[in-house]
Formats: sequence, structure tokens, C-alpha cells
Amino acid sequence: MIISPKIRGFICTTAHPVGCAQAVKEQIDYVTAHKPVAHGPKNVLVIGSSTGYGLASRIVAAFGSGAKTLGVAFERPALDDRTASPGWYNTVAFEKFAHEQGLYAKSINGDAFSDDIKQATIDCIKQDLGQVDLVIYSLASPRRTHPKTGHVFNSTLKPVGETFTNKTVDPIRGEVKEISIEPATPEDIANTTAVMGGEDWEMWIDLLMKEGVLAKGAMTIAYTYIGPEITYPIYTNGTIGLAKRHLHETAMKLSTKLKAIDGMAFLSVNKALVTQASAAIPVVPLYISLLYKIMKAHGTHEGCIEQMYRLFSDKVYATHAKPVLDKDQLLRMDDWEMVDGIQQEVAALWPQVTTENLSALTDIEGYRDDFYRLFGFHFSGVDYEADVAI
Ligand SMILES: NC(=O)c1ccc[n+]([C@@H]2O[C@H](COP(=O)([O-])OP(=O)(O)OC[C@H]3O[C@@H](n4cnc5c(N)ncnc54)[C@H](O)[C@@H]3O)[C@@H](O)[C@H]2O)c1
Repeated sequence: MIISPKIRGFICTTAHPVGCAQAVKEQIDYVTAHKPVAHGPKNVLVIGSSTGYGLASRIVAAFGSGAKTLGVAFERPALDDRTASPGWYNTVAFEKFAHEQGLYAKSINGDAFSDDIKQATIDCIKQDLGQVDLVIYSLASPRRTHPKTGHVFNSTLKPVGETFTNKTVDPIRGEVKEISIEPATPEDIANTTAVMGGEDWEMWIDLLMKEGVLAKGAMTIAYTYIGPEITYPIYTNGTIGLAKRHLHETAMKLSTKLKAIDGMAFLSVNKALVTQASAAIPVVPLYISLLYKIMKAHGTHEGCIEQMYRLFSDKVYATHAKPVLDKDQLLRMDDWEMVDGIQQEVAALWPQVTTENLSALTDIEGYRDDFYRLFGFHFSGVDYEADVAI
């Protein structure tokens, strides 16, 4: 089949298997071109392993540290003439490249929020790995079915308290427009926290501990975002930000529990980047387009793989002693994004951006390219006219 991108809103409904494999290969090449992660992890469980930050974490663990990796993700296989989801193709490619290097890599496809998938993961760890010394929790999901009650929670991206009006961009059409988002109801807040807060992470860690599959000194890391004041109403002070606060409180709670095995739990505050999850957040794509332009000009731009390589090599495993945390016990991978000079430039350009000057003032091209690349398109060296098996 000849596969071309089909965009619907902020997602692409098709994915290119050869392009997705290329995306994985480029990330592996980045890691292998750098020094190995000294004192890195050996047996790693990545929950949310198929795209974005989770996939990059898995690649760094495997190719930077020689770790055996077990991934959990929820992806769609190809059906009839419908392509698989990009995370499906990424996972197939990752496993192939890992196996070629003699690296253990297995993946479990299913709902990580469910008891069944947790149990299947634990059975696999017991059978193949014995124990894991690092658990990455990198889920981004619009909904969660609670494993005990069966209740389905839908997360929202809404401000809290008052209506938020600001600019946003349709990155594919290149249109800047104003958007107003009504404030969340108390139910929206509770639902978003149920999906993106820490309850599920805690369920995972409790079970992994109970089953004795966490090694002495094991660490667990979940990902969060803070960002600039422009996006506070929709992110940090919005429904998702409140859920992330719950995730942060969960990290503290888990750290206390993990003391029993000399383990630790913390959050890494990552940089704003184009992923399937971030593309869905209003206002954020315009901020990212400006940020890309400015950080590229300063030579400090990073993608998921650069971020995760730096997380492992400079922040988590930099010394035998302890990860490099700030006063709030957070790993700050947004350190380069939040540099004053960068943020001042973003803030100065923000009011000026219009549809007409979008290409001149922002890196909308870079945003768009990254967006298409999430689905395996826009890779030079891939023949998009060729007939490929899906
Ligand atoms: N993208 C950003 O700008 C950014 C910045 C900072 C922090 N983060 C955080 O990083 C984490 C990962 O986000 P991302 O942007 O890499 O997202 P992503 O959409 O690329 O990845 C989400 C992953 O979760 C998996 N997943 C979703 N629902 C699942 C389920 N029910 N069961 C199993 N797997 C499931 C997907 O298969 C995929 O592997 C999130 O916590 C996000 O908030 C993202």
C-alpha cells in the first residue's frame, strides 16, 4: 500500500512503518554516537514505551546502558487497509534493532491501567528478568478505566476558575486564531486527576514491590511539565497541572514507601516538545513553535532523545550517589527551556504573532515537520511512493 498522511484535527490517522522505523533508528544512532551512560540501569520497565518520552527513555536505557527493557503501551495493529498506529510500528522497529544487537526487548500491548496488564508485566519480569532497577512511568492518555470500580474517567485540558482566552495555532493550516476555553467543573478536575494523576503509578509500584520484582535501590521516574506563564492557565494551573501536582505528591509518597528497598521515586520536568499528547493541548503548539525558533537560534534545542539521554547521563546516573534534584525534589530537564533570556524572547514575540508573520517569527515549519515525523512521514531517505506492507 502507498501510505500518505491523513490529518484529522491534531492527529494523523495513518502511519508509515518504514518512516517510523527510521525515526527509531535515528534516535538509536544519536545514543550510540554518544558515550555510554555510566552506572546506568540494567533491567528497565517502561510504562508508555511506544512514542514520545517513553520511547526515547527506552532507547537510552537499551542502547546507552545496555539494559534489558520491557515496554508496556497501548497501540493499534494494522487492520485490513488501515495502518497500525505509529507506536505499534515504533515498537516493532525498536525490538528488531534491539534484538540485532543482542539486547533483550519485549513489549506488552494493552491497557496499563488494568489489573490484567499489570499482572502480565509482573509475570514477564519474574520469568525473564527477575527484578527491575528502573521503572519509567510515561503514560499520556485521554481516559482511564478504573481497575477496581470499572468507572471510566475522561481527562480534560481546561483552565480552572475562569475562562482562558489566548492565541493558538493550527500548525497544519498555519492559522493563528483566538481560542476561549471555559473553566473546568469540579468533576473535570477530579476526572483529569484520576487519569493523569498518580493513583495508577502508585498501584504499579505497590504491586511491583509486593511481588518482590523491584531490585534493591530501584528508582521510578514519572514525567511532568511546568512551562512559562503564558501557558499557566491551560497547563500548570489548569486541570492537567492539578493532576501533575497529584503526581508530584505521589512521588513523595512513593519515595517514602521505597525506602524499604533503598529505592526512590521522583518526577522529571521535561521540555515542551511535539508529541501526540502535546499536540492536543490548546495554545501549547504556538508556544512550542516560538520556543523551537529561539532555542534553535541559541543552539540549545533538544528533542525527546536528546532530553532523555541528558536525563540519564547527566541527572539520574551522573554519580553513584544520587540523582540531581532541585529543592522540590524535581529533576529539571526544562532547565534550558526556562532560561530567562529564552523566555523573555518568547514573551516579547508572543503578542506579535499573526497568521501572516507566523513563518517569519516562529519555527512553525519545524513544528510541522516534527508532527509529521511522529507518524513516520517527512523522513528523507524514505520512499513514500513505494508500495509497503502495513
Ligand atoms: N510532550 C511534552 O511536551 C511533554 C513535556 C513534559 C512532560 N510530558 C509528559 O511525558 C509523559 C509522556 O508524554 P508524551 O508526550 O511522550 O506522550 P505520547 O503520547 O507520545 O506517549 C504516550 C504513551 O502512553 C501510552 N499509553 C497511553 N494510554 C495507555 C494505556 N491505557 N495503557 C498503556 N499505554 C498507554 C502510549 O501507548 C504511549 O506509549 C506524560 O506524562 C506527559 O505529560 C510531556
